[in-house]
Formats: sequence, C-alpha cells, structure tokens
Amino acid sequence: MRLWRAFLATATVLASGAPAAMAQSSVTPMPARATRFADKPAIAFGTAWYPEQWPESRWDADLAWMKEAGFNTVRIAEFAWSTMEPREGEFHFEWLDRAIAAARRHGIMVVLGTPTAAPPAWLTQKYPDVLRVDEDGTRATHGGRRQFSFASQRYRDFARRIATKMAQRYGNNPDIVGWQIDNEIGPPSFGKEAISRWHAFLKERYGSIDNLNQRWATEYWSQHYNDFDQIPLHATGQQNPALLLDFKHFTTATWTDYVMNQASAIRAHADPRQFITTNTMFWNGGFDHFKLHRGLDLAAWDNYIQDADPDWVANGADHDLVRGYKQRNFWLMETQAGRVDWVPVNRALKPGQVREMGWQAIAHGADAILYWELRPARNGQETYYGTVLGQDGTPAPIFDEIAKLGSEIRKASDALADTNPVYRMAMLFSYDSRWAIDLQRLHKDFDPIDEFTDFYRPFRNGSQGVAVLSPSADLSAYPLVVAPALNVMTQEEADHLSAYVRAGGNLVLGPRSGMKDDADALWPERQPGPLQPLLGARVEQFYALDEPVQLAGDFGEGEASIWAEWLKPQSKDVRIRARYADPGGWLDGKPAIVSRKVGKGSITYIGAWLEPAAMRDVAQQLMDDAGVRPMIPNVPEGVEIGERSGAGKHILIAINHGDSPKPVAIPANALPVAGEVANDMLRGHGVAVFRVPAGN
Ligand code: GAL
Repeated sequence: MRLWRAFLATATVLASGAPAAMAQSSVTPMPARATRFADKPAIAFGTAWYPEQWPESRWDADLAWMKEAGFNTVRIAEFAWSTMEPREGEFHFEWLDRAIAAARRHGIMVVLGTPTAAPPAWLTQKYPDVLRVDEDGTRATHGGRRQFSFASQRYRDFARRIATKMAQRYGNNPDIVGWQIDNEIGPPSFGKEAISRWHAFLKERYGSIDNLNQRWATEYWSQHYNDFDQIPLHATGQQNPALLLDFKHFTTATWTDYVMNQASAIRAHADPRQFITTNTMFWNGGFDHFKLHRGLDLAAWDNYIQDADPDWVANGADHDLVRGYKQRNFWLMETQAGRVDWVPVNRALKPGQVREMGWQAIAHGADAILYWELRPARNGQETYYGTVLGQDGTPAPIFDEIAKLGSEIRKASDALADTNPVYRMAMLFSYDSRWAIDLQRLHKDFDPIDEFTDFYRPFRNGSQGVAVLSPSADLSAYPLVVAPALNVMTQEEADHLSAYVRAGGNLVLGPRSGMKDDADALWPERQPGPLQPLLGARVEQFYALDEPVQLAGDFGEGEASIWAEWLKPQSKDVRIRARYADPGGWLDGKPAIVSRKVGKGSITYIGAWLEPAAMRDVAQQLMDDAGVRPMIPNVPEGVEIGERSGAGKHILIAINHGDSPKPVAIPANALPVAGEVANDMLRGHGVAVFRVPAGN
C-alpha cells in the first residue's frame, strides 16, 4: 500500500487563519522510514516555501492553504544558509525541524535544498577567496546569490560541511523525500584556483602537451604551448575555438564534482530512498547536462515562460531533453504561478495556461510539479514575482486554477502511477555540437537550439512522442533517430550510430553533421566525416544563405534558408531525394537530401535548414518510411497529444494550447480520468485525460 497516499488522505490540521475546510484535526502517524520511491504520491505537487522568511506563527496557515491547493510536497531550506549557520560553525536546525514537522502535520512531504547558492556574509567576508571571479577579473560581492567560485576548495569544504550536517540530521527522516543540491548552478569562475584546476583538467584530458598542441592545431597563429601552465582560461574572445570548447568540458567537469561533493556527503548519511538531484535551467549551455546527471538519481528543472506566450512545442522539447538526461521521469522543481519578473514586460499567463502547462509537463514525463513560490517575501529581489498566495497569506487569483489541477492530479494519481511517456522515435541533442556551432556560426542566425526545435516540431507533431537523447544513448528501441546538426561527432559516436543503422535503424542527420571531432578540429574527411562511408555521399560545400533557396524532390517543394549544403553521392545506391533550384547560384541542381539503404536500416542526410512547411513534409515522409505513426492521427493545429504507459496502463493526455475550441478524436472506449471533452470538442486551453483499454 502507498503509505504516503493513505496518510495524505487522512491528515488534516487546525491552523489559525487557515482555510475553513482545514479546521479539524486528525493526524496519522508517519511510517518510521524515508518515503523514497516506495511510499510517495505518484505525482508530487507543491511549491517552494521559505519558512525562514515568516514568523513561525504563520506557518500552519500557509501549510493549510497548501493543502487546500492539493499540494503534497514542499521544497524548503535552499537559500537558508545564514539561518542554519548564522556564524561559522554555529548550527541552528531547530527551526527546520519544526518546519518539517509542521509540513508533516499537514500531510506534506519535503524536499530539502542545500543552501549553497547563497553563502552567508560571514563566509564571504572572512574568506574572500571563495568568491567568484568574472572573466574580466572582477570579484563578486555579497548581496546577490551564486557569488561563490565553483573551483574554490574552501567553499566546497564549507558546502560539504553544511550538507553533511543536514544529511546527518534529516537523512533518515521519513518526511524527507529527496534532496536538491544548490540552485541553478551555472556561472563559472576565472580566479586562481579555477586556473589551476583548468591546467590539471587539460593535463588529464590530453596526457601530454604535445598531444594538446596537435589536437588544437596550435601551429596556427603561433599558439604552440610548451607547458600546460601557459594556457589561458577563457570562455569568450578571440581564442582558439578548441580552447573555448574545452572550456565547456572544463565547466562540465568542475560543476559535476562541485555537485558530487555535496551528493556524496548526503549519500553517506541518507536513506537511499531519498533521491538526490539538482535543479537546472532549460537550455542552459553552461555545462553538459547529460554528463552532470550521471551521478544523480533523477533530473529536475525549472520551467519559466519568458514572455508568457508559450511556444508549447518548444516547451515540450525542453521537457523531453530533461527526461533524456537520465532517461527516467523527472521533477519539475519550479514553475511559474502566473508571471515571472525578469523580462521587459512580465505579463501573466492566460487563464487556463498554468493548468495546461502542468498537464503538459506530466505528459512529457514529469512526476512532480512545484510552483515558485508560495508567497512573496516582504522584501528582496523578487517581490514582484507571480505567487500562489499574496503577501497577506491569502490566495492570489491563480490559486483556484492551481487547486483545480491539484484535484485532477489526485484523481489521476492511480492511473499515472508507474507510467512513463510513450516514445515513437528519438532525436539526439549534443552539447558539444551546440557549443561548436555557437563558437563559429558562419551565419548569425544559425542558432543550434532554434535549428533543433525546427526539426523537433514536425517530428513531435507527427509522432506524438519524441525521446531526446545523447548521441551515445542506447537507440535500439527507436525505429527512427534524427540528429539535427550533429556537428561534433567522435569516432565512437559514429561507430555507435553505424551499428544502429546496421541493426535496422533509420538515422537522419541534419546540416553541419559530422564535421568536427571533440577537440573542435575538422575531420580530415568532409562531412559527415566518420559517417561518410556509411552514407556513401559527402558534403561538397556548405553555404550560408542570405536569402532562401528553393528545393524540390520526392517530398514536394519548398524552401531552405540560413544554411544549405551541396551533397555529392559517391555510391551508386545513394538516392537523391531532393535538389536545389538556385538559378545562377552554386547550389543550382545540386542534391539537398540523400538517403541510402543499409540492410534493413537507412541513413539520410538533410543538407539544409528547411522552412517549416518543407520540414513538415520531409519529416512526414521519413516517419512514413520508418513506420512511425501517432496514437491519434490528424490532430488539429494547437492540440497536443501525450501518452504515458506502464504497469499495464495506457494514459492519453489531450491538451488544447489554443484559445478556441478544437475537435479531438478520442478513442470511443477511452475512460475519462480528469479534465473535460464535450461532444468531441476540447475547449480553448482545455485538458482531457483518459485511460485507454488494452487493444487500442
Ligand atoms: C529560478 C530560481 C528561483 C527564483 C525563480 C524566479 O531561476 O531557482 O530561486 O529566483 O527563478 O524566476
């Protein structure tokens, strides 16, 4: 039996200023063990809460409102270092004990954040060497957050100590479901310690300085180094892009051991049923997220819509990417309760969109949705942020919508338990490729994230399930794998992709693929480098486009813009699927898309960044070829279908992201679980969740 759920169903509490429904008391004792995995609710639903910012006399009222909203989870303690350790070595956890106990009285489980994103003043004043140094040499100061250096051993020791103290105290507390390390790690440091770690990192990576010189081609512009200690630490500027790409490898390694320093401290004391994660930011390019997550239990991320006008397909890609980090369901550790406060015009999401975003996250594999935040602090940098309660501690207008989602999630909990998103194909995302292109775009508009999203859009719409994976992931479950702009390709990755094709898989490469190795050096062969023999064709030349070129082929006709490559078949069995029409230009009549069958598998190279209509038609053809079919065909524009399955269940989630009602052809025997469809119409921003009997 799910003990937490039994507990949640019965626990209520008396609290002053609390919602009326909560004014009766009956507290069920908790099981004396951590909740990890075995006993937690199928979907965690909750909020960030900062009890240290409020008088203790208000905690119960806040928690009662959380309960009223349907919350079963609260994240606390991140940023509370100066409350936990107000002076060096002086620890105060009694308030946190009481906050956790208060949450428990309300049937709310707790995620504990380690507070290391916000070091206290005593620390940074006594030990200024822990402060982050910008690339221009400016040292950070106190008063904001993330002012620490990720390379500082002293900072890591302090961080480990506070994490250890917390784990010793709460590692076996049954109310704690998991740990979040730090908060949105990211900004690197360029101080002395970072420089010596950089040199050690390069030495470890290249073994000898001769090897580095050779891989970086340092004869170019007289860059030759005699010793690792001579190599400058840079993230930007007119540096060798090989150095700049290795800077990203360095930040990945440094952030990974920064996080693992705390994770190992927690693991030493915590019940293994408590998960350990860190909360990341969508397309944050500061480090390779696949690598960073290797040592963590699950991925968690913070989803904010900058201009309150969600591009829902792109947002789905964000979720899919995060799920790909561990290839398991993730936590949405923060999402907005209305508006953000950091763009030029911070308008609110429309009515219905907060609920819709919640269901979209679940459809893409979120097993948790936590809002940021419950109520605004009375002062500080973020008083204007959208919150669940006002500063007066009573519901903000968004409260009812959140509570509605909460009650739907509760209703759908049994259906969703132990289910995972259904994927019908995969796409590959490579941080190295993204960075390498960003370092030398050649066309200012060749944004690798935009290009990835332009590929993702028709494949997601057409298949209704795209796993986003790293190029080294096991691909055997997917009939179709699409790698847009896999610019950096190692020999191992090429071998892995070849093996996938030879085993019957269908691989599609986008423009700029197979151009560089992982030191950012050009492969000696033209694109797609080590996959050229498999493709039986190569890129004769690539062109940045200042105006679109036409192309036509077996998909129909369309346009490419920004980038186009002239492909040249080298084997007779290569099929030219599209050619450019560029009268008087280099590309005129040249192949734009080629495919080759390899046993039961195939490899296709799309040499151009296609306009949406052409991309849609090409994607449809490739999905047809690979036998990729959606659950519900012919879904109208703006409607998203997501599926989860597992434990003998098949769940269908239909979301209308548009303002006006849209038809949806839900299978006749599907059983409604939550949401609404009337006469096969889904209203604007409506959601409907169904259980689909086996056999559909
Ligand atoms: C997140 C951060 C939170 C809060 C929120 C507001 O990036 O983790 O602490 O600042 O943004 O946008």
